[in-house]
Amino acid sequence: MENKKIKRIGVLTSGGDAPGMNAAVRAVVRTAISYGMECVGIRRGWQGLINSDFINMKSDSVNHILSRGGTILYTARSDDFMTEEGRKKAVSTCKMLGIDAVIAIGGDGTFRGALELSRLGIPVVGIPATIDNDLGCSNYTIGFDTACNTAIECIDRLRDTMQSHERCSVVEVMGRNAGFLALYVAIAAGATAVLVPERELDFRKDVVERIQNARLAGNTHFMIVVAEGVGSAFEIGARIKEELGMDPRVTVLGHIQRGGSPNARDRETATRMGYFAIKVLAEGRSNCIVGTQQGGIVDIPIEEALGMKKRLQMERYNVLEAMGNFSR
Ligand code: F6P
Repeated sequence: MENKKIKRIGVLTSGGDAPGMNAAVRAVVRTAISYGMECVGIRRGWQGLINSDFINMKSDSVNHILSRGGTILYTARSDDFMTEEGRKKAVSTCKMLGIDAVIAIGGDGTFRGALELSRLGIPVVGIPATIDNDLGCSNYTIGFDTACNTAIECIDRLRDTMQSHERCSVVEVMGRNAGFLALYVAIAAGATAVLVPERELDFRKDVVERIQNARLAGNTHFMIVVAEGVGSAFEIGARIKEELGMDPRVTVLGHIQRGGSPNARDRETATRMGYFAIKVLAEGRSNCIVGTQQGGIVDIPIEEALGMKKRLQMERYNVLEAMGNFSR
């Protein structure tokens, strides 16, 4: 497996970390080596490319990282890379280090950076990794499943104490402007209600009536999942207190959801995506994002991929609603 054009690649992780990023780095490094390419790890995302912050990577540089959360390459959100001057420096670093192509692992912001770099003549391939699962070009993004399981585990624990005290719990989950994480978690955790940014909030119908119906069905504790994109869970808790006379407890799960060892789905998907990204380069393609579609992995030109929208499946919202009117 010898590649004529791409001799040396750079790999970086950028934006919010996600469980499985390390698995993707490992797959990229090992596959690149199997194609006879050299590998440079760029540290701290696009900022590392500006600052020449790098390490040479061999096969054993990625030993024992498959099961580790976070990213051994560190990550950052770079303001400098948003400037033309910063991007020019990044191109100079690529030239200085002899990097023929960059593999960028991250989310939407990472791929906007990738597009800019590709416009300056550096070939790039993106690998989607974000717990938000909000990229239109890929059904699945690395880290989502592990984050869902972490959130569910936390909510199960909360339920124990909520049930004992016959309380209402309001739990805020991450997801930035999207409700994928919240909706999936709410179904899997058996929430009384879920609030997502994709659906305009009708507080009476979506919260008050759902709690009242659950109460009529015999429930004595209530779990309300709020996507961070909707607003503050504390405000939702205060409104519940005001309108229902309850005394809810509010929990913001926060960055807990981003940590932890990646589960099987994230390790497997990350490994396949990492392998595929290098294969794409070896076959002479670049300036694309790899993504899962109908079970397989495809590559889509970056600009097109960035324009693709992922719709929150409202059928899932209906599923949650249908589960709500029964005693747990
Ligand atoms: O995009 C991943 C994510 O965890 C979002 O869900 C969240 O809004 C954001 O990153 C938090 O970013 P930071 O780690 O900078 O606080």
